[in-house]
Amino acid sequence: MSDLHIVILAAGKGTRMYSSQPKVLHPIGGKPMLEHVIDTATTLQPESINVVIGHGKDLVLQQLAHKNVNWVEQTEQLGTGHAVQSALPHIPNTGRTLVLYGDVPLIDTNTLQQLLKQAGHEVGLLTDILDNPTGYGRIIRNAQNQVTAIVEEKDANAEQKTLHEINTGIFVLPNNRLADWLAALNANNAQGEYYLTDVIALANAENIAVHPLAVHASYLAAGVNNKIQLAELERIFQQNQAAALLKQGVTLLDPARFDLRGSLKCGQDVSIDINCVFSGSVELGDNVKIGANCVIHNAKIAAGTVVQAFSHLEDCHIGENAQIGPFARLRPNAVLADDVHIGNFVEVKNSTIGKGSKANHLTYIGDATIGSKTNIGAGTITCNYDGVNKHKTIIGNEVRIGSNSSLVAPVVIGDKVTTGAGSVITKNCEAGKLVIARAKQMTIEGWVRPEKPKK
Ligand code: UD1
Ligand code: MG
Repeated sequence: MSDLHIVILAAGKGTRMYSSQPKVLHPIGGKPMLEHVIDTATTLQPESINVVIGHGKDLVLQQLAHKNVNWVEQTEQLGTGHAVQSALPHIPNTGRTLVLYGDVPLIDTNTLQQLLKQAGHEVGLLTDILDNPTGYGRIIRNAQNQVTAIVEEKDANAEQKTLHEINTGIFVLPNNRLADWLAALNANNAQGEYYLTDVIALANAENIAVHPLAVHASYLAAGVNNKIQLAELERIFQQNQAAALLKQGVTLLDPARFDLRGSLKCGQDVSIDINCVFSGSVELGDNVKIGANCVIHNAKIAAGTVVQAFSHLEDCHIGENAQIGPFARLRPNAVLADDVHIGNFVEVKNSTIGKGSKANHLTYIGDATIGSKTNIGAGTITCNYDGVNKHKTIIGNEVRIGSNSSLVAPVVIGDKVTTGAGSVITKNCEAGKLVIARAKQMTIEGWVRPEKPKK
């Protein structure tokens, strides 16, 4: 069993986000910042994860109650020290505690493992060196270069303010001293808060060593206080994901114009053009090509399929060597077999389309089952909805639906049926027949077109 306990501070309001959402719910890569931190904390396999919430706690719980953590409420935000204190009932006096922030979303497992290793059962402190350290707590060192205290910006004197080494806020603390140190904090400072940072001076007074570790890249410990910082971390997160895919051999025509808000699994020789957004869980088989400006959510696309530019795919399955788009829309539960072609301005919802069938232009296919090698002519609509109920359209194999047809469901169209263009099909069609359901063309003999009198 591990002796590690984790406290994640997430009670703050995030005033500068100007949002009705609590700050820690704002997403990076489609996932709330707090969930990133919880997931990273989980990789360390701690004994407990305790999340301190306050502002917007109901909203936080609405979204994240399913997470396997202890939720601790801090009713009044009296400072970072006070926040950790509210989690104490869940923390024994053995082992150690790692303190993380819910608004520092990109901290990673490696850095934390290194910090824990270095801290042992003493104090660990994650630091950074910033060109502009304004606003952060500064690290104070003695003549032997040991860390002796942290001074907050608002409490710092002019000389301390010139220091560039800052506190990221991430600490490792020994549990057998934690409760005493927190009890010893006071709020006699510029902000009238119980500062967690004051435990460093307390550790020093007891000759317990403080082990600082500098992050190898600033983004790892960067906090989010406003939408500018949120956007910056979003880009870094996306760049890192893009780099990981490139390393696996995926072609991204421009890694700076790629967004993944979920998971993307790619086979060999997958190519993704610019400005695509992937979300949920997406799987692309070998040789799949995705054109520019596609939006793809929860989809499984098998080998050799090409999705052309501006297609929107959601909760769907596509077989091998299919051709989709440009401008195709696949809605939930569209299941397309191998070699299917779906062309421009074709919408497919809750329908199964068999191998080699095609709907190439301007069509709506909803609640339908279509066999193999069937062709759906341009402008065909399945009229699946009577305003109350949804009805099914069943179309067999090797059917040819003429252009601009309305198929009024429920209706069954047998194998090898041909329907005339412009038909409104309201009755089942027998296999192999030609069915025409439109007004007959007439020629009116002797009709004279009215003309305006000549001036
Ligand atoms: C804190 C550190 C500072 C460090 C900086 C890094 C202290 C006293 N200062 O300052 O040294 O450089 O972070 O970003 O710790 N929170 C609660 N409950 C509270 C107060 C805060 O949950 O009562 C949470 C906030 O939601 C936030 C985190 O703790 O996630 C840090 O709080 P914040 O007020 O932003 O501290 P800083 O002043 O930035
Ligand atoms: Mg802060």
